[in-house]
Amino acid sequence: MKILITAGPTREPLDPVRFLSNRSSGRMGYALAKAFALRKEHVLLISGPTTLPIPDHVDFIPVESAQEMYDVVAHHLNQMDVAIFCAAVADYTPTTVADQKIKKSEDTITITLKKTPDILGSARSLMNFTGYLVGFAAETENLEANARRKLETKHCDMIIANDVSQAGIGFDSNDNEVLIVEAAENTALPRDSKEHLSRHIAEIIMQRFRQKNEASDSQTQLS
Ligand code: CTP
Repeated sequence: MKILITAGPTREPLDPVRFLSNRSSGRMGYALAKAFALRKEHVLLISGPTTLPIPDHVDFIPVESAQEMYDVVAHHLNQMDVAIFCAAVADYTPTTVADQKIKKSEDTITITLKKTPDILGSARSLMNFTGYLVGFAAETENLEANARRKLETKHCDMIIANDVSQAGIGFDSNDNEVLIVEAAENTALPRDSKEHLSRHIAEIIMQRFRQKNEASDSQTQLS
């Protein structure tokens, strides 16, 4: 089975020495890549800048910006059986990148931002991906409702939601606690290390992927 995983933050350049980014450590995506590699699955990890070691037996493509991540995903997605979008992609990027370092002059400056491409949101609609699609949802309120909305609007098979307002879990920490949201059910996985949680999540994704394939095989035989 071939699995694509996006991980880490993206960096949106402002000038040759500065960028906008976020606190994502990449740990959850890297732990998932490791969990699937341990199961002898073929993993392609596409990652923004992190300080983590690349997991063994994983194909790795480093990227920087949201647009670069979009282009690499678009290039590989249709050879994949499963795609898991774990990256904390910047939602906005500066409209212009200065050629030279921006000098300090005025007391305040204004930076205009434009939306980045929604990679997960394009997987079905623009990239025509037909495999098993998993997104993440980082929320500070209404966890289930927001995750369910993302499940539907981005045409995912599964959303893994976590509450980023809780201290000690999620962004930039070792532990996480997630709610797995699917069309027919929710599954809560209690607080655990990202490493343990990832093994559990990998097992659930493999199971659901097989069920989905069996269902579409029997559909084909019936028609
Ligand atoms: N995502 C993506 N490309 C983007 C933004 C997000 O692929 N430009 C993916 C993330 O990797 C994650 C999912 O979309 O799997 C949800 O990301 P999140 O930031 O929670 O949601 P948004 O769609 O950005 O919505 P909002 O920020 O309004 O909650």
